[in-house]
Amino acid sequence: MPRHFLRDDDLAPAEQKEVLALALQLAGDRFARRPLEGPRTVAIMFDKSSTRTRISFATGVAELGGSPLVMEAGASQLGRGESIGDTTEVLTRMVSAIVWRTFGQERIEEMAAHASVPVVNALTDEFHPCQILADLQTIAQHTGGLADGDAALTGRSLAYLGDGANNMAHSYLLGGATAGMDVRIGAPASHRPDPAVLARATEIAAATGGSVRVTEDPREAVAGASAVLTDTWVSMGQEGEDGRGEATFAPYQVTEELMDLSGGIFLHCLPAYRGKEVAASVIDGPASVVWDEAENRLHAQKALLTWLLEHPDATTAGHAR
Ligand code: CP
Ligand code: NVA
Repeated sequence: MPRHFLRDDDLAPAEQKEVLALALQLAGDRFARRPLEGPRTVAIMFDKSSTRTRISFATGVAELGGSPLVMEAGASQLGRGESIGDTTEVLTRMVSAIVWRTFGQERIEEMAAHASVPVVNALTDEFHPCQILADLQTIAQHTGGLADGDAALTGRSLAYLGDGANNMAHSYLLGGATAGMDVRIGAPASHRPDPAVLARATEIAAATGGSVRVTEDPREAVAGASAVLTDTWVSMGQEGEDGRGEATFAPYQVTEELMDLSGGIFLHCLPAYRGKEVAASVIDGPASVVWDEAENRLHAQKALLTWLLEHPDATTAGHAR
């Protein structure tokens, strides 16, 4: 059976550590691993817009010795109604892994159910787990975690402000808890995380020594945090929805004052909207590590693909499905 990466808790804590350690190694020695030599092909499919994910996966697959096949899913027969199952049956006979950015999580779960090669979530409405690997790598690089290969991120804290119900918030909850971090979500009552995701993160944190907290108070969320993170107030597919403006989210804009309360670094998955979720002086200021974070998409995803291809039979998969 292949290993898939559909949500953050598909990697157990020790496995996440292995992937992050390899990501840090690849950041220093970019061509150290060539698991796709041949070349083996990886399909990289998009139902939504992308800059970083598209570039980092295409570049990463090439650097691993493979051949990237980048497709707009809508331009394939999927866009004309061919089923996910039939599409996957074809893909899985020819490619060595499938990377997909799509809408509902159930779509990528359905693909994984039909695939005999690893399937990787490149963002769904519910989760963005590849981004969180890159973010954890970035926090480790800038705060000293994982430097000795084991100290990891345990005990460090991350504070996410903004839409607590979106894919980034959910992945920070699961991925941060898996890393043993103190995860704080600062969000309005109208945009709290999915209770099932929150419950799962709480369960993981209990096992890893981490903790999880949701608050409406942005100052409480960021106080002393090692890293402050945010994301757009309007995710792809939410354009035109009511209640996504300043009236809802303005108190959660990451300002210099909130960064001073934290004393930590600033991350943003990008694309960023200056003057909305983050002040320009923060994202363009000295605490910002967003360009390292964007680069780490390359290293983290190369590490992930390498790890998935090397661990087809592991039995310690994260969440039960
Ligand atoms: N952060 C991120 O996933 O960026 P893209 O939407 O540009 O891929
Ligand atoms: N929450 C954002 C993340 C973009 C990388 C979105 O889904 O549009």
